[in-house]
Amino acid sequence: MFNRLRRLRINSHLRNMIQENHLQIENFVYPLFIKFGENIRKEILSMPDVFQLSIDEAIRECGELLNLDIKSIIIFGIPETKDSVGSDSVCDSGIVARAVREIKKVYPEIFIITDLCFCEYTDHGHCGILTHEHNNIITVDNDLTLELSIQQALVQARAGSDMIAPSGMMDGIVETLRNGLDKNGFYNLPIMSYSTKFASGYYGPFRDVAESTPTFGDRKSYQMNPANRREAISESLIDAQQGADILMVKPALAYLDIVRDIRERTTQPIAVYNVSGEYSMLKMAGKLGLIDYERVLLETMISFKRAGADIIISYHAKEIAKILKK
Ligand code: PBG
Ligand code: ZN
Repeated sequence: MFNRLRRLRINSHLRNMIQENHLQIENFVYPLFIKFGENIRKEILSMPDVFQLSIDEAIRECGELLNLDIKSIIIFGIPETKDSVGSDSVCDSGIVARAVREIKKVYPEIFIITDLCFCEYTDHGHCGILTHEHNNIITVDNDLTLELSIQQALVQARAGSDMIAPSGMMDGIVETLRNGLDKNGFYNLPIMSYSTKFASGYYGPFRDVAESTPTFGDRKSYQMNPANRREAISESLIDAQQGADILMVKPALAYLDIVRDIRERTTQPIAVYNVSGEYSMLKMAGKLGLIDYERVLLETMISFKRAGADIIISYHAKEIAKILKK
C-alpha cells in the first residue's frame, strides 16, 4: 500500500525537519504568588512545587528563572489585609507595587506582567466592587470597578510593570485601561486581556494559593458559560476592538477549540492560561505513576501551540525549561 504521509514519518531526521510546531521557552510565562513578610516559601498543598513567596524569596526565584532562560513572570499579590474595595491593590505601597519595584531593582531584565483584578484584595473575594441591585441581589458594580481598575493599573504602571493583564472580565475594561494609561503617559504599556475567561472549576487550586475564594456566590455573572462558543469568540473580538494587544483564553486545555476559533478571526497574538486545576491533575497523575509525566506534559504544551497560542502561562514553565535544556 502507498501512503505518502507515512513515508515522511519513517526517518527521524525527516520527521523533525517537517515538524509544524515547536516549544520555545520564550513563549512561557511563570506565575508568582507574592505576600508580605520575609523568608516565606510556603508550598501549596493542592499544587505541588508551587509556593507563596515573600518578596525576598520572589527575587531569589527570579534569579533561578533567569538561569533557566525564563524571562517573563505574571504576579499575583496576597495582601496583609483585605477590605470591601481591595485597597491594597490601589495603593503604591501595596504588595504588587512593592514586589514589582523590588524585583525590577535587582533584575531589570525580567519582564513583569501584573494581573489586574480585585478578588485577591477584597474581603468578599469577588473580582470587583459589590453593589445591591433591585430585589436585593448583590452583584459586581461594573462601572465602579472600572474606575478603581484605572487606579490599580496606574499603581502597577508606576511600579514598573511591563504589561497589564486585566483578569476580572469587566465590560469595557480594555478601553477604560487604555484611555487611563494613555492619559497618564503610559501609551507604550501593553494590555494583555483575559478576554475569554470561563467560569471554571479548574481554578480551584489557585483560589487556595491566592486566598481568593468568594465568600458567597460564584463568578458566573461575569465569567463565561463553558457551554458557549459564539459568545466566547465575541468576548475576545470585543477586547481586540477596544485595543487589547494580546488576547487570552482561560482555562486552556478544555477550550482549545476556542483558541483556534479566535486564531482564525483576529491577528492579535493569543495567550492561553494553563490553569491551576490543569496543573494539579497532571502533577498528581504523574506522582501516582499513572502516566509518563514528561511525555504527557510536552504533549499538552504542544497542543496549545497547535491550537494557535503564542504565549503559554503555566506553572510547569520551570519543568519545561529544564526539559528543553536537556
Ligand atoms: C483572578 C484570577 C484567577 C486566575 C487568574 N486570575 C482566578 C479566578 O478567576 O478565580 C486563575 C488561575 C489559575 O487557576 O491558575 N481573577
Ligand atoms: Zn478576579
